[in-house]
Amino acid sequence: MTHRIAVIPGDGIGPEVVDASLSIVADAADEYGFSIETTRFDWGSERYVETGAMMPEDALDRLESFDAILLGAVGHPEVPDHVTLHGLLLPIRKGFDQGVCVRPSVLFPGIESPLRGYGAGDIDFVVYRENTEGEYADVGGREHRGFPHDVAVQSAVFTREATETVVRAAFEAASEREGTLTSVTKSNAQAHSMVFWDEVVDDVATEYPAVAVERLLVDAACMDLVRRPEEFDVLVASNLFGDILTDIGAQITGSMGLAPSANVDPDGDYPSMFEPVHGSAPDIVGRGIANPIAAVLSCSMLLDDLGEGDAADALWDAVSAQLDDPGAPRTPDLGGDAGTEDVTADLRSRL
Ligand code: NAD
Ligand code: IPM
Ligand code: MN
Repeated sequence: MTHRIAVIPGDGIGPEVVDASLSIVADAADEYGFSIETTRFDWGSERYVETGAMMPEDALDRLESFDAILLGAVGHPEVPDHVTLHGLLLPIRKGFDQGVCVRPSVLFPGIESPLRGYGAGDIDFVVYRENTEGEYADVGGREHRGFPHDVAVQSAVFTREATETVVRAAFEAASEREGTLTSVTKSNAQAHSMVFWDEVVDDVATEYPAVAVERLLVDAACMDLVRRPEEFDVLVASNLFGDILTDIGAQITGSMGLAPSANVDPDGDYPSMFEPVHGSAPDIVGRGIANPIAAVLSCSMLLDDLGEGDAADALWDAVSAQLDDPGAPRTPDLGGDAGTEDVTADLRSRL
């Protein structure tokens, strides 16, 4: 069996962590008897500086036939972020209807949480983030530029279809996990969109009587992810809230360098895209110290999506064993002094 993966290393540490993780994926393919054919697309901010576009006009056509997409990161200190993100990452998520973003937060053995008293597995939840609309809808505009009455309008958009899709995916996950779903909103202040979201949760909940539903306002959810993270199992939230919650999830489980994600089209019409939660980390780019683990775990999610569950587990287990080994190399974000290559070589030896 050959799986075709489109690889977009992107900017900053993106290529560093993508190259590292692909070497591990290649080992897993050998070990588990399948093959991976990768096609690399050098799209990103350097291309933008040279040509005025992050990716070619037919980019989505070129990506569509792949079985999955692996993305490093996008973002360059010399190009405005709204240009780079609206030129590459967001058009793929939206254009491929990747309405469900799955972001696990797991406290691995051997990792010290900045929260006191938490050990391996005590924090283990997954955020289901709406991924194509909400606060990220490209609806709005600017008027009266250059005048004192300059104005900006940015409208959030919530459709029943996209909301139901992510909520249902979260209920499915909760059914297979511990049976608890936390819906995170801001219904007290945003009486249109978030009350609508609550209604959709009510409707879908009738299909999942065994799942207990908790509702939290997003400010309280941020507080509780720090105060009682052990109580969360599955969270579901809008695009922006999910973005914010998952950075908290990454930090309380040790590092941005450990947090993976999957952008999924639940209908399977388009390839799903896998990427670390972190960005291009310009502060450490080129120093060889980026933690590759978020990308490796994203590859584990990718392999799972391709039906290679054993290989996916092998990657996840290799990471877990490495983090649990006090003698294993660690990058500086985890308090060590090893480099990306040391961590990668060690993971390969454990596979
Ligand atoms: P960031 O995630 O790039 O970095 C935040 C901090 O975490 C930095 O100190 C960085 O060094 C550290 N960090 C991140 N990943 C790490 C890793 N693998 N190993 C070790 N340390 C790591 O977030 P930022 O600084 O807010 O954003 C930088 C750029 O990335 C911006 O242009 C932003 O728009 C973009 N961004 C892109 C994505 C994406 O492509 N998915 C995600 C977030 C941010
Ligand atoms: C993420 C990132 C992106 C997002 C940005 C870079 C547009 O922060 O994947 O978490 O907000 O989705
Ligand atoms: Mn983010």
